[in-house]
Amino acid sequence: MRILVTGGAGFIGSHVIRRFVTKYPSYNIYNVDKLTYAGNLENLKDIENCENHVFIKGDIVNEQFVNKIFEEINFDGVVHLAAESHVDRSIKDPLAFVKTNIIGTVNLLNASKRIWEKDNSTGKRFYHISTDEVYGSLGPDGLFTETTCYDPNSPYSASKASSDHFVRAYGETYNMPYVITNCSNNYGPNHFPEKLIPLFINNIMENKPLPVYGDGKYTRDWLYVEDHADAIDLVFHRGKNHETYNIGGFNEWQNIDLVRLLCDIMDRKLARTLGTSQKLITHVKDRPGHDLRYAIDATKITKELGWRPSVTFEQGLEKTIDWFLANKEWLNNVTSGEYQDYYDKMYS
Ligand code: NAD
Ligand code: DAU
Repeated sequence: MRILVTGGAGFIGSHVIRRFVTKYPSYNIYNVDKLTYAGNLENLKDIENCENHVFIKGDIVNEQFVNKIFEEINFDGVVHLAAESHVDRSIKDPLAFVKTNIIGTVNLLNASKRIWEKDNSTGKRFYHISTDEVYGSLGPDGLFTETTCYDPNSPYSASKASSDHFVRAYGETYNMPYVITNCSNNYGPNHFPEKLIPLFINNIMENKPLPVYGDGKYTRDWLYVEDHADAIDLVFHRGKNHETYNIGGFNEWQNIDLVRLLCDIMDRKLARTLGTSQKLITHVKDRPGHDLRYAIDATKITKELGWRPSVTFEQGLEKTIDWFLANKEWLNNVTSGEYQDYYDKMYS
C-alpha cells in the first residue's frame, strides 16, 4: 500500500503519520507538507528514520507538483489533512484558505481521479478530514448529525464546506471512492500555540494574560487528538465509500469553564497557590461571527465502526499539560520560530 498523507507535519497529521508508520510497517507512507508556520518536522522526530515514512516538501496548491508526485507514485489511498486551520487567521486572510483548502483539495481530487481512472479504482480511497464547523452554530440544544445542513459562518469553515462539497461531487460525478469525516475540536501534544488550549498553557507558564473572547460562554466539544487518529485509522480501513461520519467526544465545555479548569490544574502542576492562574483571565473583544456552540452526535461511527473515545476530558487534559511541561524545548522552538530551520538541518 502506498498512502499519501497530506499535512503530516501539522498537529493532527503528525499523530496520523506516527500511527500509520508504526502500526502498518508494510505500508509506505508519503507525507506531503508545505511546512507553513503550522508544519513542524520536530513533531515527527521519533520516526524520522523509519524506512516506510517518506517526507516530501511541497505545496498542494501547485498543480504541477501534485500531478508530478501522483505520476511518480501510484498511490492506493489519500488521507487529506493539509489545510489552513485557524479561524482567526481566516478572518484576516480568507484567500489563503481558498487556495489551500479549496484549490489544493481539487488538485488532489483531479490527480487521484486521473490515476485511478486508468487503473481500476477498486480498493482505492480518497479520505477528506473535515470539521464540525461546516454545520455552523447550534443554539443551546441539539447535536450535529451527518444529515445536518451545511451553514458555515467563518471563511475557514466556508472553505472546508466547499472542499467537502467538491469531494462529494467527485463521488457523484466521477464515482470517486471517497469518505469524509467531520470532527470536533482536538487537543493534545503538538498542538500549535495559537489555538485556545496550547496558547493558554503557554501563557500560564509565562504569566501572560489569558485572552478569553467575549463573555467566554461559547461551547466546544473537545476530543483528545489520539482518539481522532484512532477514528481516522478505522474510517480509512473500514468506513463505507460515499459516506460521511461525525467524530466527537460527547464532551462539551463552555470556554470559561474549560479555562478555569486548565488554570487550576496548572496551579497544581506548577506548585502555585490555587487561584493564581485564574487571575490571568482577561475578557477581550469577541471574534467576529463567533459560533456559539458546536456539539457532535457520534452515534453513527460508534454503532457502525465501534469507535469511542479512550480518555475522558480530565485525563486527556492532564496528559496534554504533562506533555507541554515535559516538552518546553518544543514550545520554545515554536514560539521563537526556530522549528522552521528543522527541515534545512535535516534534509539539506
Ligand atoms: P495544522 O494547521 O496544525 O496543520 C496543517 C498542516 O498542513 C501543516 O503541517 C501545514 O504545513 C500543512 N499545509 C498547509 N497548507 C499546505 C499546502 N498548501 N500544501 C501542503 N501542506 C500544507 O492543522 P490541524 O489542526 O492538524 O488540522 C488538520 C486537518 O484537520 C485540517 O484539514 C483541519 O481542517 C481538520 N480538523 C482540525 C480540527 C482541530 O481541532 N484542529 C478539528 C477537525 C478537523
Ligand atoms: O471544531 C473544530 C475546529 O476547532 C477545527 O476545525 C479548527 O481547525 C480548530 O482550530 C478549532 O476551531 P476553534 O475556532 O473552535 O478553535 P480555537 O482554539 O481557535 O478556539 C476555541 C474557542 O476558544 C473558540 O470559541 C474561540 C475561543 N478562544 C480562542 C482563542 C485562540 C478564546 O476565547 N481566546 C483565544 O485566544
